[in-house]
Amino acid sequence: MYDRLFSPIQIRGLELKNRVVLPAMGTRMAGEKGEITPRLVAYHAARAAGGCGLNIVEVAAVHTPSAPAHFVSISDDSLIGGHKKLTDAIHQNGGKAAIQLWQGSIATTFDPRAEMLVVNDMEFAGKKLKAIQQTGYRRLWSVTERPRRAVSRLDTTVWNSTARTIICPIPS
Ligand SMILES: Cc1cc2nc3c(=O)[nH]c(=O)nc-3n(C[C@H](O)[C@H](O)[C@H](O)COP(=O)(O)O)c2cc1C
Repeated sequence: MYDRLFSPIQIRGLELKNRVVLPAMGTRMAGEKGEITPRLVAYHAARAAGGCGLNIVEVAAVHTPSAPAHFVSISDDSLIGGHKKLTDAIHQNGGKAAIQLWQGSIATTFDPRAEMLVVNDMEFAGKKLKAIQQTGYRRLWSVTERPRRAVSRLDTTVWNSTARTIICPIPS
């Protein structure tokens, strides 16, 4: 009955040893600036050693001003070293790694200092938020540029193609 669950699968160029996936879960084990901590490395290494075919690392911020503290960030080159340690630990324990990129935004409820970017004027968690379009083309560009830069950081350094794998429901 579980033949497929425990059999390998190819997702584009990436082979998973089985179809057990750890979904993205914001653990809040990252550091103040979103840096990878030894605790987060140990957490993922343990799941890979336990048999997960793929660990999807929790939401990772691409834009420093809207990166809430203690959520993973990849918004700056200084954070790359930690990501290398994390992916190495997952690989050394027999797993594969993916990462979920995000803006930060709604987790501002965990960290009131984090900026929240919205497309319409609105009030959220006691803050009056201004739509991003009204802050000008330059501002909009600086934000939309961030995911591209984060992806290039992932591509050229540690995550390689695994970071861009799109996880789809697995056909039976
Ligand atoms: C503590 C916690 C943190 C979570 N963080 C994320 C996250 O970072 N990204 C995400 O897409 N989903 C997140 N989720 C949602 C889980 O990934 C989701 O519950 C899981 O995929 C199970 O899916 P199901 O609820 O459809 O069974 C989180 C869930 C929990 C309980």
